[in-house]
Amino acid sequence: MEILHMGAECYPVAKVGGLADVIGSLPKYQNKVDNNVSVVIPSYQTIFRLNNNFECVYHGKLKLGNFNFPFSVQKETTNKLGFELYLVEIPELFDRPNIYNYRDDIERFLSFQIATLDWISERESVPDLIHCHDHHTGLVPFMKKYCPKYDRIKDIPTVMTIHNGLYQGIFTFNKLYYLPEFDLIHIKEIEWGNFINSLAAGIKCADIITTVSPSYLNEINHSDNGLETLFQRVRDKSRGILNGIDTEIWDPETDSMLDTNYSVNSINEGKKNNKAQLCSHFNMDPTKPLFSFIGRLYNEKGADLLPKTVVSALTTFKDQINIVILGYGDLEIENQLKQLLDVYKGNYHVHIGYDEELAHKTYASSDFILIPSRIEPCGLNQMYAMRYGTIPIVRRTGGLKDTIIDFEDNGNGICHDNASVDDICDSVQRAVNLYQNKEIFNRIRIKGMNTNHSWKYVSQEYVELYNLIIAKRYEN
Ligand code: GLC
Repeated sequence: MEILHMGAECYPVAKVGGLADVIGSLPKYQNKVDNNVSVVIPSYQTIFRLNNNFECVYHGKLKLGNFNFPFSVQKETTNKLGFELYLVEIPELFDRPNIYNYRDDIERFLSFQIATLDWISERESVPDLIHCHDHHTGLVPFMKKYCPKYDRIKDIPTVMTIHNGLYQGIFTFNKLYYLPEFDLIHIKEIEWGNFINSLAAGIKCADIITTVSPSYLNEINHSDNGLETLFQRVRDKSRGILNGIDTEIWDPETDSMLDTNYSVNSINEGKKNNKAQLCSHFNMDPTKPLFSFIGRLYNEKGADLLPKTVVSALTTFKDQINIVILGYGDLEIENQLKQLLDVYKGNYHVHIGYDEELAHKTYASSDFILIPSRIEPCGLNQMYAMRYGTIPIVRRTGGLKDTIIDFEDNGNGICHDNASVDDICDSVQRAVNLYQNKEIFNRIRIKGMNTNHSWKYVSQEYVELYNLIIAKRYEN
C-alpha cells in the first residue's frame, strides 16, 4: 500500500511542535510493516535542507489565481529518515527561515497544496491514500475531489488528522479565485461561518477524520473552537487514535544527547548523573526535586499560568525545589518569566528558545514535568518524560487524560482538574511529598519507564483504517 503523508512540519527537517514529531515518526514505523510510505512538506530554508542531498523529481508551474509560481519537488536521496521525503520547493514563498507567521501564510500553504496535487496527478504511479495533517493541507480532499484539473486522482481516499482544531486556515471569499476551477455547486464544502475555512473543508471532504486522542475527539464536540456542530455532524466518520512516539530517538539507553545513558535498571544512577550536570550548568542544588516545563509558551498550553506558579511555588517551598522552563512563544509570557530570573536565582532558570538537545537533557534530569495545558489534543511531552523516568504533573484534558492517571488511583502521574495556579501548586505540593517517599516515588517513575507508547503498536491502527477505506473504495 502506498501512503503519502502531507503536512507543514516534519522532524528533523522542520519543527515547531508535536506535529513535526508525528509526521517524522509515524511514517517510519508504518514503513517497517510492509508499506510504502512517504512524506511531503514545503521546502523551508532549514539546516536539514541545506545539509542534505536532494534530487529534483518534478518541475512545474503552479497557478494561484493570477499569480504563477515556478516550483519543483525535491527528493532526499538516502531515505535516511526511514521513509521517502519530498520537499515542495516554491522559492518565492518558502525560501525563508521560519515555518509560520508570515503575512502571506494563506497564499503559501494554498500554493503548497496546489503544487503537491499538480505533482501527484502527473506522477506515473499515484498513492493509494493521502493522509493530510492539520489545516495546512485541509483543502486537499476538496480540490482533489471537485477540481476537474485533478480528475485523474479524484478517487484517491483521504484521511484528515486534526492535531489542533484551534488553527483553521480561515480566509475570505475574495480569495476564492486562488483555488483551481470547480463547479460552484460544491462551494458549501469549503465554507464555514461565511469564510473559506481550510480545516472545515478537510473535515467535510475527507473520507475519515482522526483526532490525536480519544478524549480530544469528545472535547471538540463542545469545546470552544467554532466547529463544534460540524464535528458533531461528522461523528460517524471520526476516530480518536492516540499518538505514539519514536522510541528509537527517545531512548535514554542510547540517546547521544544525554550526559549519561541509563535504563530502567540504572535509573537512579542515570538520572542522578544527568541531573548533577544540568544543575551545575544552571547553578542549582541537585539534591532538591527538579520541576521542568518544556514547550511552547502559549495560553493554550497553560503557559500564562507559569510566571505566577513560579512565584507561588518558590515562595511556598522557598529553597526546597528547583524549576527550569524551556520554551518560546508569547512575548509577554517570555518577559514575565525572564523577569523572575534575578529574583529566584539558584532555584529557577528559563531558557527562551527551541533547543532539542537541552530538551532531551532536561527530560533526563527532571524529577517532575509540568504540563498545565488548557487544551492538549494529545501531548507528547508526558510520553517522552515517562520514557526518561520523569513523573508528569498534568491537567486532566485531551490526550493527557488518556495517558496519565493520578498515582493515588494507582496511576503513573499527578493530576489536577483546573487550569489555575492553585491547582498546579497543589500538585507541586503533592510532588514534594512524593519526592520524600523514595519507595513510592521510584515505583511511579519505573512504572512510567515501563509504559510503552511506541508507534510500533499504535501505527498499526492507522494502517487498519487505511485498509478499511481503500477496501470501501473498491466496493463502491
Ligand atoms: C499539536 C497538539 C499536541 C499534539 C501534537 C501532535 O501540537 O497541540 O497536543 O501532541 O500536535 O499530534
